[in-house]
Amino acid sequence: MNSFKNAGHLLRFAGLFVIAFVLFLVIRHYYVPKSFGQYGHYRGDAIKDDAARPTFYAGHDTCETCHADIATKKSGGPHAHVNCEACHGPQAIHALADDPTAHIPVKPDSATLCIKCHAASLAKPKKFPQVNEDHSMGMPCITCHTNPHSPAIDTTGTGGKK
Ligand code: HEC
Ligand code: HEC
Ligand code: HEC
Ligand code: HEC
Repeated sequence: MNSFKNAGHLLRFAGLFVIAFVLFLVIRHYYVPKSFGQYGHYRGDAIKDDAARPTFYAGHDTCETCHADIATKKSGGPHAHVNCEACHGPQAIHALADDPTAHIPVKPDSATLCIKCHAASLAKPKKFPQVNEDHSMGMPCITCHTNPHSPAIDTTGTGGKK
């Protein structure tokens, strides 16, 4: 085979390739975390690390075990699908404590809370209930929408359920 007579440059190139590959394996050994790939294309230990982080949200199921009256009230109104901590903020410190009275949550102030979701904006879907700033005439929202957990005002005689 005459064509491989001057194969030296090919062998040198192959040699370089082998060196680069070994270098890659060595670097990979030091830089890729030990548990990478244990379960999939991520660091297996990340699961343990995440589980060790503090919990901030307790979840509405937890709230409802103790505040069943409010859960019932809420489920009958327009806020049925707005979860407790969307308004009350992260409350694991209260809800998951041995003594929930050790950290009693501050009541949210409807003068600043409600408008965060209900402020009129062209960017919102048209059917989402929105109000302008002058709607409340400077009063806290719960002056008229007396129960934040079931805020519809009864103008229909249906008990607030629209
Ligand atoms: C283990 C039972 C328990 C759980 C779970 C629990 N709470 Fe409470 N919560 C209480 C008790 C007891 C009080 C103090 C007495 C009261 O006002 O009802 C309280 C008080 C509150 C208050 C203040 C009431 C006031 O009158 O100022 C708020 C707000 C509240 N909880 C919200 C929540 C939210 C939101 C959750 C879920 C993240 C939650 N709670 C989970 C037992 C619980
Ligand atoms: C749309 C917002 C919103 C949601 C959702 C909401 N809350 Fe409230 N909650 C409020 C506001 C505002 C107050 C304060 C009312 C006041 O100042 O009288 C309040 C008051 C309370 C109080 C004090 C007692 C009372 O009846 O005023 C408790 C307890 C409470 N919420 C628990 C809950 C629980 C449990 C859930 C979920 C099942 C929940 N809240 C969902 C806004 C909300
Ligand atoms: C975290 C967001 C959020 C906050 C905060 C919030 N709401 Fe709502 N509200 C909603 C959602 C979601 C609905 C249901 C919209 C739907 O049915 O499409 C709703 C529905 C309503 C409705 C019914 C409107 C209708 O025509 O059906 C009223 C009234 C209302 N909210 C008043 C309030 C008041 C008063 C407060 C403060 C105590 C408040 N909301 C705080 C999200 C919020
Ligand atoms: C002076 C009394 C009053 C105050 C204060 C008030 N509202 Fe209302 N609101 C009403 C009445 C009346 C309606 C019409 C009845 C209904 O649709 O339930 C209404 C309707 C709404 C609706 C439904 C609008 C729609 O398009 O379906 C939302 C959302 C709402 N209010 C949010 C708020 C928020 C947020 C605040 C505080 C910034 C607030 N309201 C303060 C009286 C009031």
